[in-house]
Amino acid sequence: MRILILGGHGFMGRHLQQVLKSTPHVVTCVSRADGVDLRDYAQTLACFQHLNPDAIFNFAAHVGSVHYVSSRAADVLADNLRMTLNIYQAAQSACPKARIINPLSNCSYPGDADIHLEDDWWAGQVHESVYAYGNYKRFVYVTARCFSKQFGVDSVNLLVPNTFGPGDSPDPNKTHALNGMIIRMIQSRNAGKDEFEIWGTGKPVREWAYVEDVVALLGLALHRESPLVEPVNIAQNRGYSIRESAEMIAEEIGFKGRLVFNTQYQDGALRKVLDDRRFRSMFPDFQFTDHREGIRKTVAYYETVL
Ligand SMILES: NC(=O)c1ccc[n+]([C@@H]2O[C@H](COP(=O)([O-])OP(=O)(O)OC[C@H]3O[C@@H](n4cnc5c(N)ncnc54)[C@H](OP(=O)(O)O)[C@@H]3O)[C@@H](O)[C@H]2O)c1
Repeated sequence: MRILILGGHGFMGRHLQQVLKSTPHVVTCVSRADGVDLRDYAQTLACFQHLNPDAIFNFAAHVGSVHYVSSRAADVLADNLRMTLNIYQAAQSACPKARIINPLSNCSYPGDADIHLEDDWWAGQVHESVYAYGNYKRFVYVTARCFSKQFGVDSVNLLVPNTFGPGDSPDPNKTHALNGMIIRMIQSRNAGKDEFEIWGTGKPVREWAYVEDVVALLGLALHRESPLVEPVNIAQNRGYSIRESAEMIAEEIGFKGRLVFNTQYQDGALRKVLDDRRFRSMFPDFQFTDHREGIRKTVAYYETVL
């Protein structure tokens, strides 16, 4: 198979490359670093015509921390909508049989939802803190559905929880929440600080997924016989409060200072846990990495790059 990973040099893309390395597939990664800006339709089309992929992992996105996607909401929305339409239009024109695999985000669930059930995905507004990013992910689904309906373009949509693990950016403003906390806490420890500040109360519960688990599951989408347009959660139905995760990080890095919760900052949604019934019926034997073990491996990575 010819496989194209859009955004393939990013956090998830690099891990997927590792997974696919031992397979006979021909894998190509494309991003602006390779001279392809997916916001530009002509460049996107030329790339797809040249590579003629059988499958496309749609990992390219304008994304960052919650603060980043909130403060740059218009840029985040505009860039991601352009890329999404360009990818689908170019695929329909150049490689209409290619399967497009989309990692949607649990940020696209209603902000006030407690347990995230696929049937309720549209049942309310995306949380204000991730309004642009979450709505863009809903738009990916709408695009997949329309291009399936009119042109038969094949998509697999999986709803991915907050993902962490080795290989993400060392810049805490660019990384996703848990990696950002690991980076900042290692920096505090190295600077000999006796306090570590956490924004908010530490009470919000989040479901986390270790990056190697996520890419392994996305990789399985290559072997599905049928498309999966209606999104399914990658889910464990298990969350950890920010405080619990922070305490695990502190233990793993040997930070002896105090964890201080600054309640002047917004908490964001109070609970985000994904219902796992559909996931379990599709992947009954899948074993997720234990949360502490994932933190341990991530800490080991950041200890070498910071
Ligand atoms: N990490 C998570 O917690 C998480 C959770 C749920 C879903 N997801 C989704 O999973 C996908 C991958 O996430 P990630 O964490 O790997 O992101 P990432 O590390 O930020 O990587 C994004 C990639 O997109 C490329 N890109 C950005 N703008 C582009 C453009 N205009 N044209 C071409 N390429 C562009 C970037 O490369 P250049 O800068 O070289 O262009 C980069 O390689 C995204 O769709 C994200 O929304 C991630």
